[in-house]
Amino acid sequence: MDDLQTPHPDAHQGPRAALLADLRAGLPADAVLTDPDVTASYAHDMASFCAAGTPAAVVLPRTVEQVRHVMRTATAHRVPVVPQGARTGLSGGANASEGCVVLSLVKMDRILEIDPVDRVAVVEPGVVNAVLSRAVNEHGLYYPPDPSSWESCTIGGNIGTASGGLCCVKYGVTAEYVLGLDVVLADGRLLTTGRRTAKGVAGYDLTRLFVGSEGSLGVVVKAVLALKPQPPAQLVLAAEFPSTDAACAAVCAIMERGHTPSLLELMDRTTVRAVNRMARMGLPESTEALLLCAFDTPDPAADLAAVGALCTAAGATEVVPAADAAESELLLQARRLSLTALEALKPATMIDDVCVPRTRLAEMLAGTTAIAEKHALTIGVCVHAGDGNTHPVVCFDHTDEDESRRARESFDAIMALGLSLGGTITGEHGVGVLKKEWLARELGPVGLGLQREIKRVFDPLGLLNPGKLF
Ligand code: LAC
Ligand code: ZN
Repeated sequence: MDDLQTPHPDAHQGPRAALLADLRAGLPADAVLTDPDVTASYAHDMASFCAAGTPAAVVLPRTVEQVRHVMRTATAHRVPVVPQGARTGLSGGANASEGCVVLSLVKMDRILEIDPVDRVAVVEPGVVNAVLSRAVNEHGLYYPPDPSSWESCTIGGNIGTASGGLCCVKYGVTAEYVLGLDVVLADGRLLTTGRRTAKGVAGYDLTRLFVGSEGSLGVVVKAVLALKPQPPAQLVLAAEFPSTDAACAAVCAIMERGHTPSLLELMDRTTVRAVNRMARMGLPESTEALLLCAFDTPDPAADLAAVGALCTAAGATEVVPAADAAESELLLQARRLSLTALEALKPATMIDDVCVPRTRLAEMLAGTTAIAEKHALTIGVCVHAGDGNTHPVVCFDHTDEDESRRARESFDAIMALGLSLGGTITGEHGVGVLKKEWLARELGPVGLGLQREIKRVFDPLGLLNPGKLF
């Protein structure tokens, strides 16, 4: 009765009303959100300074059929769709475009299967990374990819951004664990790619193509993920260095000698101080570079002793192995806090993600220091050192016009430096809207042209996450 007397706020005429009516025809009432205050909270991921539009609606489907309905409807109405996980991304890849349907997959959060013989997990995209990790642990299994946001980020988002984490130096990135996918295409067709077998080479590797495609080719609705046997708990060592050069020399020595640490991270002086300020961790403030190295081998203490000796030979002033698992976990927490701690130093930050060959890491860090000095800015750097993957965090005051300009210039200079050292503009955070011009520079005209053609094959109307990547 109320509906008859008081028109629904969306009941005005026009294309949006027609879109909403058609979306509601195939979705539960509570799966279509239109309150502007609510939908606005879905407009951004965690990247700063990335433009976002106003969504026409946010939909929260629970089934594959409902996702297909959303895509068919969006195609019929020629409305863009932005697939979304937990919005922990750092490049604006999940930001809304104007008038789009935000397609949030967070309600599709079931773990469908964990199979210790095939060593796979079959999951829906909204499963939170840490929830999956703990669930497979109960079967003696291990899902390695562990972005710092692992307690809140989703597997679908991890697949969309090809995310990494701290474990990659030994276990590799998300792409190495995605065996097969179910994907809803732009027109609503359901595509199954890949396998759940240990091997498989039938046709082009479309599974891999979807990993890191940032929602621009289709909507992942199911994933078959490879699992490893659970390794022993890792033991961490902290080494203090008088310079980043010396710490990078240690990283090279560790890799050259054939060690396979389960973690090899570097925090520069600014980062160490920021973490202490935020969490009173008692990390050594006089160090120029703090290196964390861990092993999850049967005898981690012996491996850490060997690495400790290499650190000392490279100039470490202190080498301190953690006494036990609890102390190890504390050091990992310090590292995981790094970005948040750096973000707290200034009103605004831009987080870079340049990855260079390990052999060029020392030059990358020295060059970043020079860029900070030239632009008179604080740039804290934490590094997945074993991967050569640096996160320079440019800290600035966005209300100061000149400082903002210098921040953007230094952010760009860091990417230019990375490319000049044979690196890439993004090791694990993706392109989104933040690095579009830089993707073009890295790929060159031939590569970029082919990528655009691939996009057209999957999404001829250009409705899936438009304005991202290219
Ligand atoms: C990290 C994320 C931000 O390394 O990539 O903490
Ligand atoms: Zn990282």
